[in-house]
Amino acid sequence: MYTERKRFRVAAQAGSGAESSYIIMKTATEVCPQCAGSGWKPVPGVPDGGVTRCDCQLQARGGALIAAARIPKRYEHCELSNFTTDFPGADRSIALAQISASRFVQEFNPRDGAGLLLVGGIGTGKTHLAVGILKELIAATGSSCLFCDYRELLKQIQNSYNDSVQATELQVLRPVFEAEVLLLDELGAVKPSEWVWDTVSLILNTRYNDNRTTIITTNFADEPAASVSRSLSPARAAAREETLGDRIGERMRSRLQEMCRIVKMDGPDFRQKFKSASFG
Ligand SMILES: Nc1ncnc2c1ncn2[C@@H]1O[C@H](COP(=O)(O)OP(=O)(O)OP(=O)(O)O)[C@@H](O)[C@H]1O
Ligand SMILES: [Mg+2]
Ligand SMILES: [Zn+2]
Repeated sequence: MYTERKRFRVAAQAGSGAESSYIIMKTATEVCPQCAGSGWKPVPGVPDGGVTRCDCQLQARGGALIAAARIPKRYEHCELSNFTTDFPGADRSIALAQISASRFVQEFNPRDGAGLLLVGGIGTGKTHLAVGILKELIAATGSSCLFCDYRELLKQIQNSYNDSVQATELQVLRPVFEAEVLLLDELGAVKPSEWVWDTVSLILNTRYNDNRTTIITTNFADEPAASVSRSLSPARAAAREETLGDRIGERMRSRLQEMCRIVKMDGPDFRQKFKSASFG
């Protein structure tokens, strides 16, 4: 602990004119014992393991990073700790997904770029888990994170081509390229087209090349596109459900396999089962 002399300018209104005077005050400032104020501390338990951001910095940065992550209000309540796995009818994959999410946070290395692809039906808790991971990473590592709704992002990019809109495509995409951890929610939810495929590949390839971590959720099964499922008769191909391969293209699907560990989530729609009365 040390004391610091600070000068506070006090404007005093006196008589006819404004006068100012100075007073000297003593203030006490805590210096963090872990980092001696540098903001960095040695990696615990690893001799010569380099330095990591100190807890004092993480607390100070945490609030700003959460705001910068732009987590939508409807997911603000989502934490890994309030994700339940033992409700009646819960599929076993839900508990396994929670374990994978916790392990992902523990093993997170901002330099290796390994991500997570959460695949599952409606309301199985994919976005909840992904937001929980973002929050834990912010608290534990101080990484810059960004929540990004796939549909919304593509809409914003398309909008940027409109002359009356000020933001350029690069201005929309820069935070998406640069966030240390990107949560891309609902991948594949836009009807595929050449432009959609090009845009998805620009985003995923840029992040892949820069070794940046991407966490993805999708409703589409991680299966090949109809064009490569040669065993299907035309009638069965038409009747089958669309896959991730159909929606983002086979090349990007195979890129995702390199970028992400795949976690499947099955079971009932949690919203219908527990939240229908509360509009949650
Ligand atoms: N296991 C769980 N424990 C607690 N809350 C849950 C769980 N699963 C889902 N929820 C809650 O149910 C709601 C729906 O979950 P979420 O949005 O994560 O589902 P999703 O799989 O992303 O669905 P969609 O495919 O429609 O995007 C959220 O409010 C979420 O917090
Ligand atoms: Mg979701
Ligand atoms: Zn400190």
